[in-house]
Amino acid sequence: MFGFYPKHCGTVPLETDRLILRPLTLDDCEAIHRNWGADTTVYEYMTTPVMPQPEDVELFLRRKLQAYKSELTYYWGIFPKDVGECVGMVTVTEVGKYSLTGNLAYALGQPWWGKGYAKEASEAVLRLMFDTVGLRLMYGCHFVGNDRSGATLRSLGMCFTGRSQTPISHHGKMRFFDSYELSRKDYVTRIR
Ligand SMILES: CC(C)(COP(=O)(O)OP(=O)(O)OC[C@H]1O[C@@H](n2cnc3c(N)ncnc32)[C@H](O)[C@@H]1OP(=O)(O)O)[C@@H](O)C(=O)NCCC(=O)NCCS
Repeated sequence: MFGFYPKHCGTVPLETDRLILRPLTLDDCEAIHRNWGADTTVYEYMTTPVMPQPEDVELFLRRKLQAYKSELTYYWGIFPKDVGECVGMVTVTEVGKYSLTGNLAYALGQPWWGKGYAKEASEAVLRLMFDTVGLRLMYGCHFVGNDRSGATLRSLGMCFTGRSQTPISHHGKMRFFDSYELSRKDYVTRIR
């Protein structure tokens, strides 16, 4: 066989100046519910469902524990060192055993917006995906109106690649979405 294949490693713990990123456990249930999982504002532009009850978070965590058995699962809880509990998440989805691309996504509880945590967490994740896993292209997208997410993607050095031509139904509204991407080549020459 020819070509390059990714060296998937799953959700390995990561550390930045201010953050610990690690796989979630059932012990994180209460903090996730209190800090972000049950907040409809956090989920306004998300494609996954809000979790109003603690039981919803517990079910979500049980599914994640199963998913963590796969080295294709990349889903970290974000733990600021000075808080010590889970205040959000960062994930890479749409990865495949033989594909060299991944989709970056993140969320934080509202009290932790505007501190640069999504950027800091995403930088660590991009480093892992490009330098360790060996992906060639990372991309991200957000619904039009989710300006904070667009700002985060741009702050990571991602390039705007276009707006969807067709709106899709989301929470009862028809929404367009904006797409961004960052190649490994650009990452190595401009960012790393
Ligand atoms: C998207 C989301 C994670 C962005 O959060 P954020 O805190 O605005 O993102 P960043 O980490 O990029 O932080 C940038 C902000 O932190 C500020 N900041 C403070 N200290 C900083 C630091 N040390 N480094 C970088 N930025 C810092 C920046 O000035 C900027 O603030 P501003 O936007 O008010 O000017 C957040 O809005 C969210 O969770 N939304 C709901 C979930 C969601 O929609 N997810 C995306 C789905 S596509």
